[in-house]
Amino acid sequence: SVDFASFTKQTGHTALDYGFVNTAATKSAITFIDGDEGILRYRGYPIEQLAKNSTYLEVAWLLLYGELPTADQLAEWDDKIRHHTLLHEDLKRFFSSLPHTAHPMSVLSAATAALSTYYEGQSDPNNPEHVELNTIRLLAKLPVIAAYAHKKSIGHAFLYPDNSLSFVDNFLKLNFGNLAEVYEVNPVTSRALERLLILHEDHEQNASTSTVRLVGSTGANQFSSISAGINALYGPLHGGANEAVLDMLARIRDSGESVQRFVERVKNKEDGVKLMGFGHRVYKNFDPRAKLVKESADEVLAELGVHDPLLDLAKELEEVALSDDYFKERRLYPNVDFYTGVIYKAMGFPTRMFTPLFAIGRLPGWLAHWTEMQNDPQTKIGRPQQLYVGAPERNYPGL
Ligand code: ACO
Repeated sequence: SVDFASFTKQTGHTALDYGFVNTAATKSAITFIDGDEGILRYRGYPIEQLAKNSTYLEVAWLLLYGELPTADQLAEWDDKIRHHTLLHEDLKRFFSSLPHTAHPMSVLSAATAALSTYYEGQSDPNNPEHVELNTIRLLAKLPVIAAYAHKKSIGHAFLYPDNSLSFVDNFLKLNFGNLAEVYEVNPVTSRALERLLILHEDHEQNASTSTVRLVGSTGANQFSSISAGINALYGPLHGGANEAVLDMLARIRDSGESVQRFVERVKNKEDGVKLMGFGHRVYKNFDPRAKLVKESADEVLAELGVHDPLLDLAKELEEVALSDDYFKERRLYPNVDFYTGVIYKAMGFPTRMFTPLFAIGRLPGWLAHWTEMQNDPQTKIGRPQQLYVGAPERNYPGL
């Protein structure tokens, strides 16, 4: 092992690494990515196998505890999570203090930060019982908060969670059920959403996970750290890209601009326009998640009986971009966000709910990294260096 702090002191060298392109801030045993080969594994298991055969909660356990749970462990955990879905009634009133036009991501991060006020005295990062309980609380309550943010944005009443339902079905009911009718879960939507959530569960040291780790390294509790992660995810270069892709597709459709012309504008960097949902810091080959999402887009839309011209437009954009030297030279491929929005839209989610769906997906990864960091004896408070390039010492006027 290398002691980087003393190396820096001894040599006088500080690495300047914008965007942390070459700097590892931690060791981690959770997720493996080979960006050149397009490989993604959680705890050694290929993402393709997990997406096909597992469930959101089973994968969450795997990320958190390193092994797949036994059937009994999973059943007990699932039961505990179901029993923590209720929000304090006072917290429900918190939603009414926000405008209905609020973006659901802002509501989600604010309400997650507010959750910690209900568990003061029970949120000590050094107390394993607190950590375990708050892991369960966050897994149980974040989907409820996200669904309420959705309901609020459309002026509908909040439903109580239905704990007879599975994690995903409960979430669908909270979003699409109403007080007047019995809600029937569509199994196609349910399975497709479960698969998408699994694909998002972790992605090692991405911006939001690194944020969770950085905030957590100060000794902040899980609620504060996860709330910070939600804010980092919100940006259009990260999780917010799924919303930005759909907006981009809709704008191209509505403007009547040809795909070729749009791609030309991207290549010329006109007004900073980018092909959203393309490119990745780590993947320089196809993002394996994007491959799976693209397959499911066709399947799910067909099964739901939806024909969306935006899916055709996305495919055309992908084809034009992949055969263009600009994208080839820069090794830019579709990332996970390129096709997810089309599926979420077919399920009935409004565009502004796409990134909250990503947040629910990513929550287990954030919690697993927070816990790994907490248990690592080498963890230190995160504190990047800088190279000062400002004014030299000078005197206040008149002195
Ligand atoms: N459209 C057009 N050009 C792009 C794109 C894109 N989507 N992505 C990268 N490029 C170009 C850059 O302009 C740069 O070109 P240059 O060498 O001529 O200056 C080159 O490719 C390298 O790109 P960087 O920005 O240096 O790559 P970086 O690793 O820093 O950024 C990022 C990665 C942020 C994902 C970038 O590809 C991007 O902005 N993509 C669009 C937003 C997006 O889809 N984000 C989701 C990422 S996945 C996730 O977070 C879940």
